[in-house]
Amino acid sequence: MLIRKPDDIKSSEITPQGIYLRRREFMRAGSILAASMLLPNVADATARLSGVVQSRYSTPEEQTPYKDVTTYNNYYEFGTSKSDPAENAGSLRTRPWTVSVEGEIKHPKVWDIDALIKAFPLEQRIYRMRCVEGWSMVIPWDGFSLANLIRQAEPTSKAKYVEFTTLNDPQQMPGQRTSVLDWPYAEGLRMDEAMHPLTILSVGLYGQTLPNQNGAPVRLVVPWKYGFKGAKSIVRIRFVEQQPRTAWGRVAPSEYGFYSNVNPMVDHPRWSQATERRIGDFFKRKTLMFNGYGDQVAQLYRGMDLRKNF
Ligand code: MTE
Repeated sequence: MLIRKPDDIKSSEITPQGIYLRRREFMRAGSILAASMLLPNVADATARLSGVVQSRYSTPEEQTPYKDVTTYNNYYEFGTSKSDPAENAGSLRTRPWTVSVEGEIKHPKVWDIDALIKAFPLEQRIYRMRCVEGWSMVIPWDGFSLANLIRQAEPTSKAKYVEFTTLNDPQQMPGQRTSVLDWPYAEGLRMDEAMHPLTILSVGLYGQTLPNQNGAPVRLVVPWKYGFKGAKSIVRIRFVEQQPRTAWGRVAPSEYGFYSNVNPMVDHPRWSQATERRIGDFFKRKTLMFNGYGDQVAQLYRGMDLRKNF
């Protein structure tokens, strides 16, 4: 992101499998010990999600292995290197957890996370994900359409944007004790983007509850935008009249625009966005406009200058 160019990411940051396996063994041993001491088991907290149906919006492309999806992450609250979130986010307490839905709506509500997960039909959406740094993955997310939640909240005519705010807790999140970002992490969408059927709130991946490093207990997924739009560990969803400020927009407005649609024709000021490396591939591939979702989303931006509105 802001700190480093894609080429600066050393291959040593991708945890070698041996170390990963040893870490798993270590964590498992730790969790058995924790259970035997009647402490909450925080190390291996994922569980199978029930009632998830396959979505027609899924791509048939080869899925990125679970190991890569859960050990090569951006989650600056837990450190800035790719392996930090998997190493440090295990201790994040995701229960009890509430999500406040508020602002320009008729039915504000503070949702308990488990009630929220049960309230709307869960689907598995296998999406291409493109990070602004130049790598990509194919991830089977489990979640529900954000539009379902929005319809229930009944926005007023003043609701033009949706703001997503994530947990602010420097005690639990060591990265928040640094000023790498202006905390808490925040993101936003225009109302029609938020209502689009491809936009989901994810509560799981690969049929399991979301691992902490991927944004437990609930995170945003918008597959035609760069990955940083997908705010992790959301605590507040607010409907507003003015375009909200975003975490990356605050620290580097010339590099991270509000829209952040995947666009191979508009370079990041410090690197090209024309190609990407799918994690696991040796060769790079061409990046597709709107990350390949143009048929579904291009009409949202008709008449807009996408160089200005990057
Ligand atoms: N959400 C929070 N709260 N903090 C973060 O640092 N990083 C973003 C996004 N959501 C981030 C966040 C970035 S830069 C990316 S690319 C994606 O999460 C990565 O999601 P993944 O690790 O599940 O692939």
